[in-house]
Amino acid sequence: MTTIDSNVTQIEHHGPSPDSIGAILVAAGKLNPRDTARVMELQQREGWRFGEAALRLKLINERDLVSALNKQYDLPELLPDNDGASAELVTAYQQFHPRTEELRALRTQLLIRWFKRPETHQHVLAIVSPNGGEGRSYVAANLAVLFSQLGERTLLIDADLRNPRQHRIFNVPDRIGLAAVLAGRAGLDAAVAIPGFHNLMLLPAGAPPPNPLELLSRPALPTVFTSYLDDFDVILVDTAPALRYSDAQAVGFRAGSAVVLARKDQTRLADTHRVVRDLGNSGTRVVGTVINNC
Ligand SMILES: Nc1ncnc2c1ncn2[C@@H]1O[C@H](COP(=O)(O)OP(=O)(O)OP(=O)(O)O)[C@@H](O)[C@H]1O
Ligand SMILES: [Mg+2]
Repeated sequence: MTTIDSNVTQIEHHGPSPDSIGAILVAAGKLNPRDTARVMELQQREGWRFGEAALRLKLINERDLVSALNKQYDLPELLPDNDGASAELVTAYQQFHPRTEELRALRTQLLIRWFKRPETHQHVLAIVSPNGGEGRSYVAANLAVLFSQLGERTLLIDADLRNPRQHRIFNVPDRIGLAAVLAGRAGLDAAVAIPGFHNLMLLPAGAPPPNPLELLSRPALPTVFTSYLDDFDVILVDTAPALRYSDAQAVGFRAGSAVVLARKDQTRLADTHRVVRDLGNSGTRVVGTVINNC
């Protein structure tokens, strides 16, 4: 998976820091006091979280960080299917899988080009692609896991009201979700915690409504985003195919930012360009275009 965007510029100060992750890493012999001081220096200078800063200095690897998080929250190490979640969650189950590495690289790009950029007014990112089966749900789910692994309180919203899949990927009930919240029939507590995953919650799509585009175009959607941002550091939003329905345009506009996926040997370049152009025309910042190599 590669991004073909440019403009890496400065990194915004972000968030509170150090948590006891540092202490756990020291206790586990992963960091010595000198390294810890370097991490804290970078953390203070750039506003990264402790774990992120240690990763960037290559003092620990991702597995060290995930193990420390598990220890901190007393969670078991995850194994595929031991909690019913899909093995598609490579980032949770296969730390050293090449796809996990690619997705981590994408996360890094997003941290730099979107999450930490001063012009990012709200940390809501729509995952968009022109057609069906291009990997939006897969990438959205795995990115959500990766952001949560950094200690960011992460909410994944399934706004693909046509063909929702996140509830199956994470094995949670799908009766109540975004559709009900937008229709005023459910509250924000429709978002559910996912067993075995810390810092990560899912708002499923819910029962398919007859009028997805009308629901997603309501002023309720930005209100929902804003309200969740009181409790979450980052919101990722799965969407329906952008050339087939206008839903993704509506979501992208309200999210403010979008990343556009193109699947290798499948997505036509002209289709990708059209989606990028349409999003831009409707005022959505396209953070980058991602080639899903799989
Ligand atoms: N990078 C990848 N590595 C491995 N498998 C992938 C990858 N991207 C997508 N897939 C697989 O391809 C299939 C389609 O992906 P996914 O459901 O995420 O696409 P989508 O764009 O959300 O499709 P839909 O239009 O049906 O919502 C899934 O089985 C998914 O696991
Ligand atoms: Mg999908």
